[in-house]
Amino acid sequence: MPVWFGGDYNPDQWPEEVWDEDVTLMQRANVNLATVGVFSWARIESREGEFDFAWLDVVLDKLHAGGVRVDLATATASPPPWLSQAYPEVLPKTQDGVRLWPGSRQQYCPSSPVYRRFAARLVGKLSERYGDHPALEMWHINNEYGCHVSHCYCDVSAAAFRTWLETKYGSIDAVNAAWGTAFWSQRYSEFAEIYPPRSMPSFPSPTQLLDFDRFSAQELLECYRAERAILRAATPDIPITTNFMGFFKPTNYWEWAKEVDFVSDDSYPDPADPAAPVFGAMTRDLVRSLKGGQPWVLMEQATSAVNWRARNAPKLPGQMRTWSYQCIARGADGVLYFQWRQSVSGAEKFHSGLVPHMGTDTRVWREVESFGTELTTLDQVIGSRVSAHVAIVFDWDSWWAVEQAAMPAQISYLHTVFEWYRTLYDLGVVVDFVPPTGALDQYAVVVAPTLQVAPDEAVTNLADYASGGGRLIVTYQSAILDENLRVLDGGYLGRLADTLGVRVEEFAPLAAPDLAAMGATAPVPSIQLSGSTLGAFEGTEWSEYLRATTAEVLAAFIGGPLDGWPGITSNTTGSGKGWYVATLPDAGARSSLLTGILAEAGVAPVLAHPIPGIEVVERGELTFVINHSGETVSVPLGGRDILTGVTADSTSLEPKGVAILSRS
Ligand code: GAL
Repeated sequence: MPVWFGGDYNPDQWPEEVWDEDVTLMQRANVNLATVGVFSWARIESREGEFDFAWLDVVLDKLHAGGVRVDLATATASPPPWLSQAYPEVLPKTQDGVRLWPGSRQQYCPSSPVYRRFAARLVGKLSERYGDHPALEMWHINNEYGCHVSHCYCDVSAAAFRTWLETKYGSIDAVNAAWGTAFWSQRYSEFAEIYPPRSMPSFPSPTQLLDFDRFSAQELLECYRAERAILRAATPDIPITTNFMGFFKPTNYWEWAKEVDFVSDDSYPDPADPAAPVFGAMTRDLVRSLKGGQPWVLMEQATSAVNWRARNAPKLPGQMRTWSYQCIARGADGVLYFQWRQSVSGAEKFHSGLVPHMGTDTRVWREVESFGTELTTLDQVIGSRVSAHVAIVFDWDSWWAVEQAAMPAQISYLHTVFEWYRTLYDLGVVVDFVPPTGALDQYAVVVAPTLQVAPDEAVTNLADYASGGGRLIVTYQSAILDENLRVLDGGYLGRLADTLGVRVEEFAPLAAPDLAAMGATAPVPSIQLSGSTLGAFEGTEWSEYLRATTAEVLAAFIGGPLDGWPGITSNTTGSGKGWYVATLPDAGARSSLLTGILAEAGVAPVLAHPIPGIEVVERGELTFVINHSGETVSVPLGGRDILTGVTADSTSLEPKGVAILSRS
């Protein structure tokens, strides 16, 4: 198997004369995989029940003749206009009851039996027709489930929500108990009284909201499962995937990853964002972790600019290659793009492609061609693994809950996780992500940032990990609520209070930073802390009245009403240790704290002294060295660079340069 290289191919946007040139250019660039038909429903079935596959036969045959494998899409992502004309109930509704009409894409209610029936028929036809096609390599179900319509509030969804609740709870009394409807006269006497959380006068029931988030993610997953069942029956040996979107809030990818044969992901970091390489790395680490470290495929990225930001920066020369190698270094076995040929009409005509508007005499095409050719020498990477000794706990329930209204403060869950990740990245440490009940034993250090929702199994998992010899770091707003968003029995932190040797008495949040900014460069309110090993530093986002019971106080708040109250603690528990952090320490303090803990745990980065802008990741027998900076940098790592064949004691990297050193 080669490293996959290619992208979304939409020949139905082009006259047939272009198709031969497409295949010739694909061969020039060493494209070996094309994702075909993602948005072709209206072309395949232009009227109800009238199917035209002749054009698609030609496309697949041409690709096959040209040696390009096919990732065949099920085309269900964008229903044709006739469907909602004949069956208007398939159109989704927003929280305010506004219908979403045809004219763009994804205008379907995920719970609609009509949508599901027509989608199933289409998938059945596609699998019958192409199940034996020699070009078929994999199935690509739908496209980015939920990217535009993740929650639908229509009557069809309301009925499906009730059914889901009945299955989950069994009785209306159980719903009342779980949702705490004794509050504000919300008690239900029958399921028919329950609606999705449509616009309402004040704060919605938190647990109704959370259950609706869970339900909505499940409904999308049911759409996927229904298509998968048809494909699996027709072609048991063809792998099936659907493209994820990294840290995408509406879909709990821990659940989804169990359902795909391999994880594939779409990723569009902003070239204008200095933090993009770090956020990129964090996303790759999540995506790799979703299926226990199994190699994954980057299903979509841009060759250069996208068209959906307010201002769309092109990628710098070489940046497409460095960001692609970041994916491969962190576990990808393929790098694909949206899309092959840049459109000349429609809403994405200003989105870059592999073949730009201006043709092949362009720097984008030259970069595509040379990168595609380079990838043909990388077969040895396929299937190899990345191993991490540090894990961050990541939890969709906590993400949904923490960002609800009526909380102690507006906290961005992703920003909080990112800040801890960023410090580990800067220290040169590769991270796995784990769900709260995931296996932790293989990790020397585990960080649980703002794990607000912590059912018994999660609390027990973390407590057992620490007492069994692990090193656990827990931050503020963790283990506050159970799975129904009820304050934990025994108070904040539940059983983790003993693990950590602290009691949280009362919250004192600081004002929120700019929640949109990943880099959080805007000045934000801070609080002073100091400790003997950490010195003086600042905390942002949070403070609280924390009492140490058995823990040692490593830093305390200074000044103001919290003067003298503990801010960072450590506690011995069984044969391990637990740290509690009651604020978001500044970068320097996070770095000092983590450096100490990593040293104690025996975790060392590949590069003893990490260099800013240089990313070093070991995958299998290879060490990837990536220069994200605009400077030429000399890196004290030697070996044979498999890209150049040169063996040296150290590695000099030009701006945006990459070396892949063989250790064997
Ligand atoms: C993705 C989508 C593609 C294309 C791309 C543009 O979200 O799957 O179809 O729209 O964005 O960046």
